[in-house]
Amino acid sequence: MTEKNFIPSSYSSIIKEGNVTWQAPSNIALVKYWGKKEHQIPANPSVSLTLSNCATTTTLNYTKKNVETADFSFELWFEGQPKESFKPKIVKFFERILAYMPFLKAYHLKIETSNSFPHSSGIASSASGMSALALCLMSMEKELNPEMTDDYFYQKASFLARLGSGSACRSVKGSIVAWGNHQNTKGSSDLFGIEYPYTVHKKFKNYQDTILLVDKGQKQVSSTVGHDLMHNHAYAAARFKQAHENLSRLQDIFQEGNLEGFIEVVESEALTLHAMMMTSLPYFILMKPNTLQIINKIWEFRKATQIPICFTLDAGANVHVLYPEEVKAEVLQFIKSELVEFCENNQYICDKIGSGAKKI
Ligand code: DP6
Repeated sequence: MTEKNFIPSSYSSIIKEGNVTWQAPSNIALVKYWGKKEHQIPANPSVSLTLSNCATTTTLNYTKKNVETADFSFELWFEGQPKESFKPKIVKFFERILAYMPFLKAYHLKIETSNSFPHSSGIASSASGMSALALCLMSMEKELNPEMTDDYFYQKASFLARLGSGSACRSVKGSIVAWGNHQNTKGSSDLFGIEYPYTVHKKFKNYQDTILLVDKGQKQVSSTVGHDLMHNHAYAAARFKQAHENLSRLQDIFQEGNLEGFIEVVESEALTLHAMMMTSLPYFILMKPNTLQIINKIWEFRKATQIPICFTLDAGANVHVLYPEEVKAEVLQFIKSELVEFCENNQYICDKIGSGAKKI
């Protein structure tokens, strides 16, 4: 598979107008994507759990223009209001995908989008948002080319989503998705995410993710800037090698249902991600004092109870608490009694592993 596979040759149908709605989930990486090359090619492979409740719903209305214009013509609505500030990111996305979606400038688009989670939660909506938009555009392309197979549809949706935001390519399918060339993962690609192709033990079925909202403010350093700082980073080569190894380790862990091994890989990945930030030049810290309080509490609780809970972090201060469904009652009790006090306005979101995006 190369980029060329996603350039359409011609379309068999003509459509004047239509609309489509997709709901796409967020995802949480177990092995982190941190560092990229040109054209949104990841510096290392990653793997994530697709979530279920944290999602973006996007409706795309399209109307054929009388004459094709040089610019993209679109409106953007966020939670019922026009949102000019999101437009530059969408223009950049359209520019990146134009070669693969040559019909884009022939239509006027109305994009209406909303998130299931509060906008100011500190939860990144770029993964679910770009995935939902990419899927809407693919539905439009399928109208133009009805012979398209489902495999191609989802692969190209992930390919396009990646060009919007790297981690978005892991927000199309469920329930575990791998992205990035990895020698030991068959079918893996730098260009799109794939459904995890190996056996996953039933212990991971319905795995829970409770997201503790430690800091709902705007991040001081964007992921894009953070990725960039991995160029010429003193530890980059070792980090990229480690990600490959961790992906291989997870293969046995998933198969055997080895929760101890899972905890070790996942927590090490989270801390390594933040260690990369702290050792970048310029260096930065996205964790907050309460992030560390929570991590220590989780370690104490795990030691005292032997309940296999662990944490992971994304590029921010919030903590994702991961645990098997069978210990849900005890863990939620622990979260309420000992962790909620470290969350901004005592807020947290209960989520779990999900099955991927849905057309509505
Ligand atoms: C820390 O996908 O947000 O969440 O490709 O620049 O849009 P861009 O970056 P983004 O990076 C996500 C980084 C991460 C780890 C991960 O999700 O794998």
